[in-house]
Amino acid sequence: MRFLLTGGAGYIGSHTCVSLLNAGHDIVVIDNLSNSSPVAIERVEEITGKKIAFYVGDCCDEDFLNEVLDNEQVDAAVHFAGLKAVGESVSIPLRYYKNNIDSTIALCNALAAHNVKRIVFSSSATVYGNSEIVPMREDLPLGVCTNPYGWTKWMNEQILRDLHVSDPEWSVVLLRYFNPVGAHESGKIGEDPSGIPNNLMPFICQTAAGIRKELSIFGNDYDTPDGTCVRDYIHVMDLADGHLKALEYATVHQGVETFNLGTGEGYSVYQMVAAFERANHLTLPHRDAPRRPGDIAQSYADPAKANRILGWKATHTLDDMCRDAWNWQSHNPTGYPKEDA
Ligand code: NAD
Ligand code: WQD
Repeated sequence: MRFLLTGGAGYIGSHTCVSLLNAGHDIVVIDNLSNSSPVAIERVEEITGKKIAFYVGDCCDEDFLNEVLDNEQVDAAVHFAGLKAVGESVSIPLRYYKNNIDSTIALCNALAAHNVKRIVFSSSATVYGNSEIVPMREDLPLGVCTNPYGWTKWMNEQILRDLHVSDPEWSVVLLRYFNPVGAHESGKIGEDPSGIPNNLMPFICQTAAGIRKELSIFGNDYDTPDGTCVRDYIHVMDLADGHLKALEYATVHQGVETFNLGTGEGYSVYQMVAAFERANHLTLPHRDAPRRPGDIAQSYADPAKANRILGWKATHTLDDMCRDAWNWQSHNPTGYPKEDA
């Protein structure tokens, strides 16, 4: 089959390109490169030995999307494109609401105009808000989000549910990712945060690489086994395979289904540091620091629904995640080469 991936040059999108191509599917990628490099697409082609139809452009631009879909016939779309920095979304909320919501509406209009009514959407565990009921199951009432980024995911889920009510021919799969980390085992593609990273693993990697002096551990007095926050870290290639299963599901089912993509295991920040040191035989300078505002003590998935219905299960270990993250970072200390960009 042939799938459209918006935001396919980004971190999760590029790894999903590899999974889909290796499974024998064709792909079309649209990305405005606002947070990614075209080198990621070249590297995916290198890894898979296959060509990608790649269009640089904005998913909020419905005319542009229509032009792409006039040229490229696809069976379904995965909508990764979006801005994702939680802190930035607090400073520039309108940009986040505009980009993340307009792009979904424009994409759905363009898909429907081409009679493609199948979409897999990149949602997030952030829609559970500040709920601390763990493990988090898909039928947990949606929470109160703690930042505009989270609300864009919450609203996009609602928009897609409403779309299906208006036209039951739509097949919508909402994937709620937990904490994606790691990289393709080749070390050719990985997470390349521009500016200051947002997430723990890039901070760990940059500290190990000497780009940062030490890792700050935000809070050691939470109500968790060792006092640091617990999260469900999932290898990005497991996440990528979840998209393959979700697309296969969306092509044979109509309706709206929501799936958690997590391992079901929670690890603390201290455990992450220890695992990274163990897996990579190095020492990571770190110090305890005050809590980060907005963090909840623990968040981890109940992935049973995805296991059962999609036939998907995360298989990579915590050591795999730490090893592959460092393999990418150490081979690409400054991310993708900028001169090729
Ligand atoms: P990313 O920033 O690496 O990828 C997003 C891609 O979308 C980038 O390549 C960016 O250039 C592109 N993009 C953004 N706005 C666009 C637009 N208007 N038109 C075209 N392209 C646009 O982020 P990621 O980590 O790969 O995340 C992919 C998706 O998954 C996002 O929607 C994100 O919110 C969601 N998500 C990410 C995480 C995470 O921790 N990484 C967790 C849960 C959900
Ligand atoms: C993990 C843990 C930090 C950095 C975020 C978004 C969420 C989703 C995934 C998109 C926390 C601690 C971090 C550091 C630290 N994204 N930490 N030192 O907050 O669980 O989720 O990314 O949808 O919406 O909120 O992930 O990686 O930022 O933090 O101690 O330098 O690591 O306090 O406990 P989080 P994270």
